[in-house]
Amino acid sequence: MQKKNMAFSVFPKSIMTMVMMVLCFICINSVRSVEAQSPRLPVQEVEAPREIGSQLGKKDWNFDVDPCHNDTSWATPTSDRYSLYTNIVSCNCSYVPDGVCHVTSIVLTGQDLAGVLPPSIAKLPCLTQVSFTRNYLSGNIPLEWASTKLQNLSLTVNNLSGTIPAYLGNITTLKLLFLDSNQFYGTVPPELGKLVNLERLLLGQNNLSGELPLDLSNLNKLKVLKIGSNNFNGTIPDFFESWSQLQSLEIQASGLQGPIPPSIYSLNKLRILRISDLSGYSSPFPDLRNMTLMHVLMLRSCNLVGPIPDYISKLTALRILDLSFNRLEGSIPDFGIGILDNL
Ligand SMILES: *[C@@H]1O[C@H](CO)[C@@H](O)[C@H](O)[C@H]1NC(C)=O
Ligand SMILES: *[C@@H]1O[C@H](CO)[C@@H](O)[C@H](O)[C@H]1NC(C)=O
Ligand SMILES: *[C@@H]1O[C@H](CO)[C@@H](O)[C@H](O)[C@H]1NC(C)=O
Ligand SMILES: *[C@@H]1O[C@H](CO)[C@@H](O)[C@H](O)[C@H]1NC(C)=O
Ligand SMILES: *[C@@H]1O[C@H](CO)[C@@H](O)[C@H](O)[C@H]1NC(C)=O
Ligand SMILES: *[C@@H]1O[C@H](CO)[C@@H](O)[C@H](O)[C@H]1NC(C)=O
Ligand SMILES: *[C@@H]1O[C@H](CO)[C@@H](O)[C@H](O)[C@H]1NC(C)=O
Ligand SMILES: *[C@@H]1O[C@H](CO)[C@@H](O)[C@H](O)[C@H]1NC(C)=O
Repeated sequence: MQKKNMAFSVFPKSIMTMVMMVLCFICINSVRSVEAQSPRLPVQEVEAPREIGSQLGKKDWNFDVDPCHNDTSWATPTSDRYSLYTNIVSCNCSYVPDGVCHVTSIVLTGQDLAGVLPPSIAKLPCLTQVSFTRNYLSGNIPLEWASTKLQNLSLTVNNLSGTIPAYLGNITTLKLLFLDSNQFYGTVPPELGKLVNLERLLLGQNNLSGELPLDLSNLNKLKVLKIGSNNFNGTIPDFFESWSQLQSLEIQASGLQGPIPPSIYSLNKLRILRISDLSGYSSPFPDLRNMTLMHVLMLRSCNLVGPIPDYISKLTALRILDLSFNRLEGSIPDFGIGILDNL
């Protein structure tokens, strides 16, 4: 014991230096290996989430960890599948050549966020999905977003206002665009007709006015279109031949006038059709005979006259039928007991 202590006291400096060097070596190596295993975001993409957080008014992101690190502040597991709260930032870390990560999706729903739509999402070049559904975000869609490559954009139930900006038509990657339940007003810009990849477009529950632009007939991949509860003007546009992929169409209390264009017969993939509160000329029951997938059919207060066609009873997928507040006459088609049970 005594001898060892002596030795240490005789060569303290050189031993200490050696120990320090060994420690440093271990330290550097372990840092390197941690770096190699953990996700790496480009510097810009580390900064952008800070700006996005402050623009949204989101205060609980933990900036001490990388957004791609599966920290619970960046990706909160939700056990309740009916919960309206979602908190998920996701990344893709498989980018070649060097395996860098990029933020690909930001989904923050039901969080009472009361800021504005963050211009800084445009700094995330690989972002394809954004949902800020059910918050209190105000203002309008930032100009910066025109350059994004978003595919899914949901802004449903917020406090957004102003006119729908024409530059939204520049995000031609969009497949899903939900602007419903906000305070948008004014006319729908014809530029939305440039969004030829759109499959789902929700504009309902706003204060939109004017006629629907002819350019919307370019959207021939549309599967879901909902435009109800607005102040549109003019008749229901006759775009159904170009919208032949539609599966769900809702035009309830949109302000548009009837009659329902006869070309609606071509929508043979329709599963849900809800039209209501049409003013304008009366018309006979539209030809829906080929809509064998029809599940929900609501033509309420549409100024329909004449008989209800018999083929309605042959639409075997039908579960909900509402033809109230029309001037239909004659007898009710024989649905058979089995079908009536489902109505
Ligand atoms: C984060 O979680 C996802 C899904 O659970 C997984 O695919 C991914 O590899 C995880 N990333 C890290 C850095 O642990
Ligand atoms: C991640 O990005 C790579 C490279 O672009 C792509 O091949 C892969 O499909 C992406 N993964 C996911 C889950 O999107
Ligand atoms: C967009 O949403 C659809 C369904 O809501 C989903 O299947 C798809 O993967 C999403 N796309 C992206 C890029 O997140
Ligand atoms: C909605 O936005 C307006 C400004 O456009 C603002 O005055 C109002 O306080 C906002 N309401 C909520 C509930 O955030
Ligand atoms: C949108 O695209 C048009 C034509 O491609 C271009 O002139 C315009 O500058 C773009 N707008 C924005 C805000 O990027
Ligand atoms: C809706 O817009 C019209 C003008 O188009 C305006 O007169 C009306 O006050 C607006 N309603 C609401 C609830 O904002
Ligand atoms: C609605 O359209 C009709 C004819 O298309 C036009 O005369 C009328 O001024 C429009 N009303 C409004 C409020 O824009
Ligand atoms: C309904 O479908 C049949 C067979 O596919 C077709 O011959 C007929 O023209 C269609 N009728 C209407 C009104 O679309």
